[in-house]
Amino acid sequence: MTKKLWGTRFSKSPSPLTEKFTSSISFDQRLAKYDILGSIAHVQMLGRQKIISAKDAKIIIKGLDSLLSELNHGKFKFDPKAEDIHSNIQQALFKKVGRVADKLHTARSRNDQIVLDVKMYLKDEINILIKLIAELQKTILRFAKDNQKIIIPGYTHLQVAQCVLLAHHLLAYIEGLERDKQRLFEAEKRLDRLPLGACALAGTGLAIDREFVRRRLGFRHLTENSIDTVSDRDYILEVLADLSILAVHLSRMAEDLILWSTKEFNFIDIDYTFCTGSSIMPHKKNPDVLELIRASVGKIQADFSSVLILMKGLPLSYNRDLQLDKPPLFDAIDTIKDILEVFIPLFKNITIKKETISAKLKDESLFSVDIVEYLIKKGVSYREAHDIVGRMVRDTLDKGKKISDLSETQLKAYSLKLGPDVKEILNAGKSVNLKKSFGSTNPRQVAQQLNKWMKKLK
Ligand code: ARG
Repeated sequence: MTKKLWGTRFSKSPSPLTEKFTSSISFDQRLAKYDILGSIAHVQMLGRQKIISAKDAKIIIKGLDSLLSELNHGKFKFDPKAEDIHSNIQQALFKKVGRVADKLHTARSRNDQIVLDVKMYLKDEINILIKLIAELQKTILRFAKDNQKIIIPGYTHLQVAQCVLLAHHLLAYIEGLERDKQRLFEAEKRLDRLPLGACALAGTGLAIDREFVRRRLGFRHLTENSIDTVSDRDYILEVLADLSILAVHLSRMAEDLILWSTKEFNFIDIDYTFCTGSSIMPHKKNPDVLELIRASVGKIQADFSSVLILMKGLPLSYNRDLQLDKPPLFDAIDTIKDILEVFIPLFKNITIKKETISAKLKDESLFSVDIVEYLIKKGVSYREAHDIVGRMVRDTLDKGKKISDLSETQLKAYSLKLGPDVKEILNAGKSVNLKKSFGSTNPRQVAQQLNKWMKKLK
């Protein structure tokens, strides 16, 4: 039988059901690398501080080094009987170096150790995520740049609204993704505090040097309250919240692309390599990847809720409940990485359907606000201009006629301020060029934004 880290005071061994029920090794084994690296730094400190002898420290470090190399070569065997990742490493070390292994856990508890492992894991993962998000941003930017001149109908309430540059719409995605990167970056900064030394909850009477361990493990600061250190899971909640928001962005992008690829919109073509067919309807080419992106977002939000619910009302400090923060955390991170990894090549392979898009731009309702602004510039009040254009729309567009077909006399009947020159602004190119405000869809402004992002994302 595996020796428990806490076995001595127990007069009976746990039932096999308890062992199975409490075990976390099936999911926390992914923390093995961090557990070993943390242990190496910890034992170096114990040796330096003469809490254990330099000789013992050396033997333990050598043992841990060789476990690390086994792990890196896929040779480390996890023992499902050894409760969790900490016990697994401890037991493997015992097998390697014998009794001296028992000194490793001096001035440490699994309560501060698990926080260390997860924080180290998150620091790495956040870095990977930020890189993936930047990669997606660059892909979108390339796509925007390649189609810089394309104008599309913009929508509000999913009803035709006004002309916008496709690049402007795409840059909106890039803005949201930038905030996602910033949020993760800030979450990383906040969690960057070494927890080791909190021990179970009260700290230790042994002369440890937390500062040394902090430097060795590359943490920016120390946690400053041992009870908070083992109780706090804000850093997990924060990352899950950030991933939930990122996921919302990705789902909205996926939904836009799904809509745009329908026959009804027909703005884009999603490459065959990212679609699947129907077993019954031979004509189908379905955007399954995008649909699954949209669906996966629900999983991530459920992961966030699951940890929120786990934490609610939990007494300080450590409780075993906290073990169950990991499956949802890992699931959210794996899922978001899968989404980002498939979204990047999918985006690289979208083709724009220029002809069908430009046919949609013939819809003169796209220019109603431009006519209103034309009138305002001629001194008509906003309210009156809105009424005039409203009447024109009712009499023409609603009846399948065109504003551009109105004669000069007919135009004057709506307002004496309407000259024949109003017909010149009834086109998409004019429409976007009329926009002037900072941040608008004006092609010059969009070009500036494209350049700004080119530099920023380089
Ligand atoms: N496996 C636990 C976790 O994931 C850490 C171990 C703490 N266990 C304990 N009995 N104090 O949170």
